[in-house]
Amino acid sequence: MSANPYGFFDDQAREYVITRPDTPLPWLNYLGQDEFFGLCTNTAGGYTFWKDAKLRRLTRYRYNNVPYDLGGRYLYVNDGGTVWNPGWKPVKAKLDRYECRHGLGYTTIAAGKDGLEVTQKMCVPPGENLELWQVTVKNTGNVAKSPKIYSYQEFCFFEALNDMTNYQRTYSIGEVEVEGNAIYHKTEYRERRNHYTLFACTRDISGYDTSRDAFVGIHEGLHEAKVPFSGKAGNSKAFGWNPVGSHEISLHLEPGQEETFAFILAYVDHTLVKFTGEKFTAPYVINKTVGRAIVEKYSKTGAVDKAFADLKGYWDENLSHFQVESPDPHATRMANTWNQYQCMATFNMSRSASMYETGIGRGMGFRDSNQDLLGFVHMIHDRARERILDIAATQLSDGTCYHQYQPLTKKGNAEVGGDFYDDHLWLILSTVSYIKESGDKGILDAPCGYADRKYGSDSEKETLLHHLETSIAYTMRMRGPNGLPLIGHADWNDCLNLNCHSTEPNESFQTAGDVGGSKAESVMIAGLFLYAARELSGLYSFLGREADSDRIAADRKTMLDIVESVAWDGEWYTRAYDSQGKVIGSKANPEGKIFIESQGWAVLGGAGADNGRARQALESVHKHLYTKNGIVLQQPAYSTYHPEYGEVTSYPPGVKENAGIFSHNNTWIHLGWCLLGEGDRALEYYHSICPSNKEEQIETYRSEPYVYAQMTAGKDAPCFGEAKNSWLTGTAAWTFVVVSQGIFGIQPDFAGLKVDPCIPRGWPGFKVVRKFRGATYQIEVRNPKKVSKGVVSVTVDGKVVAGNVLPILPAGTVAKVVVELG
Ligand code: BGC
Repeated sequence: MSANPYGFFDDQAREYVITRPDTPLPWLNYLGQDEFFGLCTNTAGGYTFWKDAKLRRLTRYRYNNVPYDLGGRYLYVNDGGTVWNPGWKPVKAKLDRYECRHGLGYTTIAAGKDGLEVTQKMCVPPGENLELWQVTVKNTGNVAKSPKIYSYQEFCFFEALNDMTNYQRTYSIGEVEVEGNAIYHKTEYRERRNHYTLFACTRDISGYDTSRDAFVGIHEGLHEAKVPFSGKAGNSKAFGWNPVGSHEISLHLEPGQEETFAFILAYVDHTLVKFTGEKFTAPYVINKTVGRAIVEKYSKTGAVDKAFADLKGYWDENLSHFQVESPDPHATRMANTWNQYQCMATFNMSRSASMYETGIGRGMGFRDSNQDLLGFVHMIHDRARERILDIAATQLSDGTCYHQYQPLTKKGNAEVGGDFYDDHLWLILSTVSYIKESGDKGILDAPCGYADRKYGSDSEKETLLHHLETSIAYTMRMRGPNGLPLIGHADWNDCLNLNCHSTEPNESFQTAGDVGGSKAESVMIAGLFLYAARELSGLYSFLGREADSDRIAADRKTMLDIVESVAWDGEWYTRAYDSQGKVIGSKANPEGKIFIESQGWAVLGGAGADNGRARQALESVHKHLYTKNGIVLQQPAYSTYHPEYGEVTSYPPGVKENAGIFSHNNTWIHLGWCLLGEGDRALEYYHSICPSNKEEQIETYRSEPYVYAQMTAGKDAPCFGEAKNSWLTGTAAWTFVVVSQGIFGIQPDFAGLKVDPCIPRGWPGFKVVRKFRGATYQIEVRNPKKVSKGVVSVTVDGKVVAGNVLPILPAGTVAKVVVELG
């Protein structure tokens, strides 16, 4: 029995099963793994895009709608005049049975009413630019039935912002064609586009609609759409206004009989498929050769089943790189399945498209994408390599970085610009973790170039290593009166805007204010620098470049001495100095006395390691910031707005960066406890934000119990424990680092796979299967002495290995490893 009245984990099937459609918030899943993606909620809501949710949106979705989630991959059933949807919405008829299974890259919604069962199984097949809905309709009653099924999706005119704002144009440009069972949405194809959207059925249809006004009505809502309620397709042809795609399927099913068919929603881009035919076959008639071939392919028996099987194979492979068996059910299921899955969603989406990110705002974040990489690099290093080089190319030659870039163009977003003085350092973390995972040192010589320079050829471009050096030099150069790094617009905490001083409500905290000549400094960036510099110095040492390693280590030592001399407040590390040189995050402040980020990064960067401060800093976090729902960002919360601190003080106490529980930064403290060998505390903290552990309090928590949310309301908020902004958060990657490298202690390193667990004392041990550089390590960790940390012996295939780094084995090898703690 699940403690959650809305659903349960099916760990065997790697699915989250939702048993009631009226979840406390829409619970989302993603379809797609390459370039074609869909958002799909538990009531079939959501939309589809190719590569870029802003520039190539294929179907429409109205964010913050009423209800929140309305519009999507709808099927209407008209069974003898009774109209219902298998996903419950939009009609919301009472269903006899409803079940939604969110799986890896697919969602299955199955519902039944009055002896009719409809199953809608949705996915994007690997390598394809299309989405499939496999639909099975079964007569489970004892009389024959002749139901009609209507598909429904609203087409988007590709550029989503224009599509939802510029109606004086968009109401006049919509164009479609219908051929057989296929609807072609071809708006703007006549001008500069060489692509269209195809929405087809693999089975014969008895009618169609392409005009929203005809299908839904002018004054009607989706829950009372005219066509499905009348049971008669209008065969409408959209001309302008709002084109939609709807097929009418007329079935006859004897008792026990079922029929399966599929819908295909495809992005057909002639430039992608190297199509050489004519664009039009007759005036206004688009060339449908590619579209027809797609319909033909998926109309063949078994083709759709094969797509689902391929998808399963794709995920089995991805997840096989790390699998654990442990005494803790939450850590086990999250690490094995959902956490890794969420990491891939952040790889694909960055922070662009979710229920909270509209796909038209932020593109890919520089710091976000670098951190996301830590969570997926073990699954897909080739794509991680490409991602690192793309990100690096948006750095400027002085060391600053475009804060965001558009995935389609891979160009920096000039509106947001740069000058967030932590961005460049994350590039070192992602690059080093990629090299540790893959062994590919060659990436350091790959040409990247800087976004503000022009190059004739790749050979003129500066290498990735050049970028890493530029990043270190930049932080060393850009320091303030105390010797700490300058903060610029903000550091990781996008809302700590010490140079903005905004009193004008119509401006952005992030981009307003002049950072030039500013003196505001960040202790968090200093801690991050300590970490990044240690990583780069270690990399040089591995490359045999000891002089370079020492040079970077010397910079690190300089910074460490500064942190210890100016940033220790007595019981914890301070957070920053403001533009007037006044301290932030100190006992001296009436509010915002202690912040989480600087404790995390000082400790991870190695500050306080020899003088007891690291432990003291974390104990202060425990005393002042820790709650059963996670660690709040600072205390006391700011009760009033301070222009000199910026957006952090704009939020009501207890939410977002003003003393909310920002899951992302919690993980740095978790890793801190692991460093200090406190396994019980690490797991307790891990549980405090673990979504799988929230099922018992789901009415308060509200968000999906299978993925992390960015933020949970803190103790100062009236809704303490309520989570928001699920899915696209750096928490995914960092918790995977916590659980896989911190708690289970499986740490990729330059020369091999290091094993250094930090577990609760009560655990007898655990097992991990880890693929690393092509070999498979079947690791059994035993804990006979009931310790948290400390490897005393390691054997690989029965042979004793000195130390705790497993050697790199020939690709294809399967090795049995036994590790004993003591
Ligand atoms: C942003 C991150 C930022 C964090 C904390 C997130 O919304 O994507 O870049 O570090 O908020 O402010």
